[in-house]
Amino acid sequence: MTPAERVAWLRGELARHNEAYFVRDAPLIPDADYDALARELRALEAQYPELGDDSSVSMAVGAPSSPLFGAVTHAEPMLSLDNVFAVDELGAWAQRTARGLGVDADSLTFVVEPKIDGLACSITYVDGVLTQGATRGDGRVGEDVTENVRTIHDVPATLEGFSSGRVEVRGEVYLAKADFKDLNGRQRELGAKEFANPRNAAAGSLRQKDPKVTAARPLSFLTYQLVDLDGAMVFARYVDTLARLSAWGFATARETVVEVGGAAMIARSTWFEEHRHDLSYEIDGVVIKIDDLARRAALGSTSRAPRWAIARKFPPEERTTRLLAIEVSIGRTGRATPYAVLEPVLVAGSRVAMATLHNQDQVALKDVRPGDLVIVRKAGEVIPEVVGAVAEPARARQPAWVFPSSCPECGGPLERVGEESDTYCVNPACPAQLLQQIIHFASRGALDIEGLGEQRVAQLLGEGLVSDVADLFSLRRQDLENLEGLGELSATSLINAIDGARSMPLSRVLVGLGIRHVGPVAARELARAFATYGALAQAPLEQLERIDGVGPVIAASVHRYCREDESIERMTRLAEAGLTLSEPESSAGPEDTLAGRAVVVTGTLEGFTRDEAEAAVVARGGTSPGAVSKKTYCVVVGEAPGVAKVTKARDLGVPIVPAAAFRQLLETGTFVAPSP
Ligand code: IVH
Repeated sequence: MTPAERVAWLRGELARHNEAYFVRDAPLIPDADYDALARELRALEAQYPELGDDSSVSMAVGAPSSPLFGAVTHAEPMLSLDNVFAVDELGAWAQRTARGLGVDADSLTFVVEPKIDGLACSITYVDGVLTQGATRGDGRVGEDVTENVRTIHDVPATLEGFSSGRVEVRGEVYLAKADFKDLNGRQRELGAKEFANPRNAAAGSLRQKDPKVTAARPLSFLTYQLVDLDGAMVFARYVDTLARLSAWGFATARETVVEVGGAAMIARSTWFEEHRHDLSYEIDGVVIKIDDLARRAALGSTSRAPRWAIARKFPPEERTTRLLAIEVSIGRTGRATPYAVLEPVLVAGSRVAMATLHNQDQVALKDVRPGDLVIVRKAGEVIPEVVGAVAEPARARQPAWVFPSSCPECGGPLERVGEESDTYCVNPACPAQLLQQIIHFASRGALDIEGLGEQRVAQLLGEGLVSDVADLFSLRRQDLENLEGLGELSATSLINAIDGARSMPLSRVLVGLGIRHVGPVAARELARAFATYGALAQAPLEQLERIDGVGPVIAASVHRYCREDESIERMTRLAEAGLTLSEPESSAGPEDTLAGRAVVVTGTLEGFTRDEAEAAVVARGGTSPGAVSKKTYCVVVGEAPGVAKVTKARDLGVPIVPAAAFRQLLETGTFVAPSP
C-alpha cells in the first residue's frame, strides 16, 4: 500500500469508527486501537504534507450530529484534547509549553484533573436561567439535548447568585460506576440490552428522543470549563472559575489538584493512574491544564485542541494473547456460555487464562478462532472478556469455530430459544445445571448457607445426597459426617446453616431459585407485592406485569416458572421443609393495601387478638365491620367462627378467606380464592 492509499484507508476507517462511537454509541474496536489508527494517520499526514487535507478526520473532533436532534452551533467551538501516553511525552509537553511561554517548567502551575469517561456537553445560561443543552457533535455543531439535560440531577436550572449575562458551562455527562451497574442490572431484568461501558450508557441515555427516558437514567454532570459569552467576567486562574462554577451549584471533580512544576505534575498524574479504580466514576486518563488564564490565551489553540492542556491517557486494560481453545460452560439456567482458554497473560494486574465470549453470536461477530491472537480486556473487577482477534495476514487461520449442538456435560441437546442470542442445555437433569443451581441457591445474595460452596455441592451431588435444592433440607447430620473432609463439627454447622435458611424471606428464596431474568430487584418487588409464594404463584400474567420493576419478560418468566411441574413439586417440598416463603411485613410496600375495603373477621386468628386483627385491617385503609353485607370484600375465618357470619357470606357470594391467608391479605390486599 502506498502512503496515499494508507492515508485514504485510515481516513475511511476512522470515519466509520467515529460514526459507530459518536452517532450510534456502539464502538467497534477498543479505544486504544482507535487511538492507534488516529495517531498513524496524523504521523503520515505530518510526514507527507502533500497528503494533508483540512477536512481530514484527523482534524475533526467527534462526528456530525444525528438528524434525530436539532442542530446547535456552538458559540465557541468545543475542542478536543491532544493525548500522550508515556511519561516522557508528558514531560516533553510541559517543556514545550514552558518554552512557548518563556518560563521554566519548574515554575509553571498545572491543574491535574481526572479525565472522566463520559460525553462532553455544553449548557447555556441566559441571565442565570438554563436555556440550552448541546452535545459536542463535530465540535462546531452539536445536538440539541436541552430537555434531556434538564433532567440531570446535578445540572442546576438556575445559577445561584447570577443575574445577568450569557455563559456556557461545559463539562462531562457521565454515569458513576455504581449507577452504571444498577442501570445494567435493570436492563438485564427487563430483558433489555446491556450497555458496554459507562460512557456508552451515558451517551445512549443523554441522546434519547424522549426526555422521560433520560430522566429515568442516573446521569451525573461534572464541569470543567466556563465560557463567558459576554467577556464580562474577570478570572486570573482556572481554579477561580472552578470555584465560581461550584458556587453556582455545579459539581467539579473532587480529586482535582494544583501542582507547581513539571515533576510534581507528572507524579500526580501517576498517582491518578494508580488510584483510577478508587474513583466513583471511570476515568481513562488525566487532563493537565495550565492554571494561569493569561498564559492560556498566549498559548492559544489549534483547530482541534488547545495548546494549554493535554490528556495523559492510561494504558488500556487490554492485552493481546494467543487463543488456545474455545470451550462451553453450562450455567444454572442451562445457558451455554462459550469461553476462551488463553495463553495466560497479565491484564490490569491479574493473570488471565480464561475469558468469556458471551454467546454464539458474539463468537461469530468477533470471528475469533482457536490459534488467533486476541485482545483480552479486564477492567477493574469486571470478568475478563475477549474483545476480538488481531489480524495476522501472514498466518493461516483455523476454520471458524462451530458452536456445539449438544451439551458438553450431559450430551443433551443445546437449543436457542426464540429471539435470544443465548443457547441453552434443555435437559433439566443436566448435572452441570444442578451444580450451579445449588451453588446459587446457597450463595450470599440468596439463602446464604455458609459452608455450601462449589466443592461441597459437587460432593453432595456426587454422593447422590441431593438432586434438587429442596433435598438440602432433608439432609441429616449422619448423612454428612462420613463425607470426606467433613467431621462431626462441620457437619453440624452445615446442618445448622441449612436450618437457618428456613426463615429467609421470600425475596431471597426467589433470588435463589434462579428463575430466568429474576434478579434481586425484581425478586424484592415481587415479594413485596405478593407477600407469599402462594399468592405469587396464583397471580395472573397481567397482575405480574403491573408490578413496578417487572416488565413483560420477567412476568412471563415467573408465570411460566410457577406453573412448571418441577417447580410446583420443588415449592411444595420447600414449604413442607418449613421455609416461610413469605416476606416479612417490615419490607412490605405501600401500606394502603385494603383502601376502602370491608373485611369481616370471625373466629380467632393465630398471632392476633380480635382487636389487633381489626386494627391491622384499618391500618391498611380498610374497615372491619361486625356484620357481613353484599359490600363486604371478604370474610376471614379463624378458629371457632361465628356460624351466622359464615352462612351469610356463603349466601351472598362473599369470598371466604382462611386464617392462614390473613397476612397475605394484609400485605397485598389480595387473597387466593378458595377452590369451590
Ligand atoms: S477539558 C478545550 N477536562 O475529554 C478543552 N475534558 O478527549 C476541553 N474530558 O472533549 C476539554 N474529562 O469530553 C477536559 N477534566 C476534563 C475532562 C475532559 C473528560 C473529555 C471531554 C473532552 C475529551 C477530550
